[in-house]
Amino acid sequence: MDGWSSCLTTTATVAGAYLAWYAVCAWQCRRAMPALRLRGSHCYVTGGSAGLGEHLANLLAEAGANVTIVARNQDRLLAAQKRIQGHCADPEQQRIVAISADVANAAEGTRALHRAIKAQQGQAPKYVFACAGLTTPRFFLEYRPQDFEQTMQVNYFGALHTIQEAAKLMIQHEVKGGRVVTVSSQAGLLGIPGYSEYTPTKAALRMLTETLYYELAIYGIAAHCFLPANIRTPGFEHENQTKPEITRIIDGDDEAMDPRDCAQCMLDGMAKGYPNITSDWLGDIVRATCRGVGPANNMALDTLFVFLGWFLVPLWRVIVWWQAKSCRQAEAAQRKQVLSQ
Ligand SMILES: NC(=O)c1ccc[n+]([C@@H]2O[C@H](COP(=O)([O-])OP(=O)(O)OC[C@H]3O[C@@H](n4cnc5c(N)ncnc54)[C@H](OP(=O)(O)O)[C@@H]3O)[C@@H](O)[C@H]2O)c1
Repeated sequence: MDGWSSCLTTTATVAGAYLAWYAVCAWQCRRAMPALRLRGSHCYVTGGSAGLGEHLANLLAEAGANVTIVARNQDRLLAAQKRIQGHCADPEQQRIVAISADVANAAEGTRALHRAIKAQQGQAPKYVFACAGLTTPRFFLEYRPQDFEQTMQVNYFGALHTIQEAAKLMIQHEVKGGRVVTVSSQAGLLGIPGYSEYTPTKAALRMLTETLYYELAIYGIAAHCFLPANIRTPGFEHENQTKPEITRIIDGDDEAMDPRDCAQCMLDGMAKGYPNITSDWLGDIVRATCRGVGPANNMALDTLFVFLGWFLVPLWRVIVWWQAKSCRQAEAAQRKQVLSQ
């Protein structure tokens, strides 16, 4: 064998072994995910009275699930419950339950889960969606200490407490094929000026879910993290009221996804068994670029997304840097003036 053919044989052997290893890892990931069966299952949605949570609840009702929605405001909850009932595939058989609770309070969150099981005639939740979340964008120097604490309490601890209690109940009730979903954000993958109260809560959720992806698998419960881009919801309208100009430029405030389409993306990602679900291909590039040693959705596609990210991420950074130049200068001058008074 000459030098060239031995070099080719070695390369082909290494590439083949690598691809085989990829295939084994991908198969192992898939094997851990049981099929999604919504009909007749109890689906528990925090933040289910508005926005993404409500549209998700509509889709679950259309698929024949028994749905529990949780939020704080009783009037909005009851109005949403009525709308969701209108989406039921079989209104005679399905139960749509509304429970008022503040998920940021661990005891209230726990009570809500127990009340939900009672109202759903003893049926424990099989699919738990921790959608409740909020943000009020501002510059870092404008926030009060309690703003950071409140947002972390709702976005991170609200989801954590719900999922911990729900997982215990799934095990006690011997629920088969249970799943938990945290709702993070693309903002949980990258730092954006104006979101310092928000991005850490969503990044924390991402790491919590990655840990639970491995740990809850011990009990046969799958964990997903949803990382959507902007969604046209009441929460997004609230954000836009305080969003600094630089955040609008980076975030693209006029480009927001339809909440029903976004909720459908979440369910599609769950059906495919994706650990980290995004709402568009740009989100996939950012997700794959940030994946580190975490689980992949699709080994081959994720490698392609990382490759695209090598070119597109630096390009995007340069464009945004130039677009935001005047905002940075104006904010620096204004802040200096405010702080020197
Ligand atoms: N909209 C976006 O552009 C976007 C993008 C990426 C990720 N996300 C994430 O997606 C999720 C849903 O966002 P959204 O825009 O649909 O929000 P939304 O329109 O503001 O709806 C939020 C829902 O959560 C409930 N909620 C808020 N705080 C709660 C608490 N402490 N306890 C119980 N329920 C609570 C609200 O009802 P009450 O106020 O009555 O409690 C409401 O039902 C959030 O986690 C958000 O961070 C949103």
